[in-house]
Amino acid sequence: MGGDVRVRRARGQHRRRRADLRRARRHRRVRRAERVRRHRDLHGRVRRVEGPVRETVMTQKIRVLGLGTMGGRSAAAAVAAGYDVRGFDPSPAAREAAAAAGVRASDDAASVVADADLVLVSVPRPEHVRALATEVLVKAPAGAIVVDLSTIDPATARAAAGQLAESGVTYVDAPVLGRPATCGSWTLVCGGPAAAIDTVRTHLTATVAAKVIHVGETGAGSVVKIANNLMFGAINAITAEAITLCQRSGVDARTFVDTVAESGAATVSNLFREIAPKMVTGDDDPAFALELLAKDNQLALDLAEASGAPAPLARAVVDVNEIGLGQGLGPRDSGAVVKVYAELGGAR
Ligand SMILES: NC(=O)c1ccc[n+]([C@@H]2O[C@H](COP(=O)([O-])OP(=O)(O)OC[C@H]3O[C@@H](n4cnc5c(N)ncnc54)[C@H](O)[C@@H]3O)[C@@H](O)[C@H]2O)c1
Repeated sequence: MGGDVRVRRARGQHRRRRADLRRARRHRRVRRAERVRRHRDLHGRVRRVEGPVRETVMTQKIRVLGLGTMGGRSAAAAVAAGYDVRGFDPSPAAREAAAAAGVRASDDAASVVADADLVLVSVPRPEHVRALATEVLVKAPAGAIVVDLSTIDPATARAAAGQLAESGVTYVDAPVLGRPATCGSWTLVCGGPAAAIDTVRTHLTATVAAKVIHVGETGAGSVVKIANNLMFGAINAITAEAITLCQRSGVDARTFVDTVAESGAATVSNLFREIAPKMVTGDDDPAFALELLAKDNQLALDLAEASGAPAPLARAVVDVNEIGLGQGLGPRDSGAVVKVYAELGGAR
């Protein structure tokens, strides 16, 4: 009899252990299922998402709008760093090039930003940013941060920031100091809320930038960039002018460029070293198109007029660029302005 009781107890314990095991397994399954539907956004807040995710920094969803010279390299750098990257560009050629670098490229901008953590924008002009802010970026999820790498005016940056704030999206103007080939080492000059810039800094330095510098409130990054590109425009035009002066005065342009570039003269800049030899050989394959430089220098002139800053050189540079655009040189490299000088008669 006593033996029967022991057997029944043992069977009961066995049933309870099996039930416990089943409960534990069920619990683990639920936990696992929860994990695949949650991840942390850029602010560390838990967000529900579709599909399996690992909770590492690389699960951040970087979306890129504009896959041209700068945006295409940015998207490729994010892929190389292991991020989840999708991109949009209206140009099929830009999408194809990005896809070859591993970017999931789409022609549907709204779907690209729909689950974004971080959106990089790299489009040519302020009107493109205005259109994206109104039609696309407002569809990014609340909590997303938009980092605008485009060179635009500060008023457009402030307007975009105000518009996106209404849907809980933070906008940072973060134009690029750097050339396409140096993607990964760029300096981004950022205007906007310090907390948002701190939040995205790791992701930007893991992909496109060596330095992410907070220069002030929204729009401040754009002012720094426009001022920098005014110096670019002046060096670009004066280099073309100096080369033409040498040629018309009987000195070989190549000799002028090589001598000055290797002289240690205070006038020599990295830009001079890059563009002057190309001007001499007539190589105007676009690294930075003249039409973009002309846009930037016009923004500088507009800003000078609006702020009351004297800008006689900006006026002169804008004039040189405009003649180049009139000659159809807009899509060529900025150094193509040397052709403007070739066409112009000088005072004798
Ligand atoms: N190229 C440079 O050396 C350089 C350096 C610093 C900053 N910038 C600035 O970066 C920005 C991009 O320059 P880039 O040289 O890559 O120009 P780009 O013309 O090579 O590329 C711009 C891309 O934006 C796309 N685009 C146009 N409208 C769009 C929209 N509404 N949505 C999404 N994509 C759109 C175009 O199809 C194109 O592929 C510009 O504002 C430029 O002034 C360029």
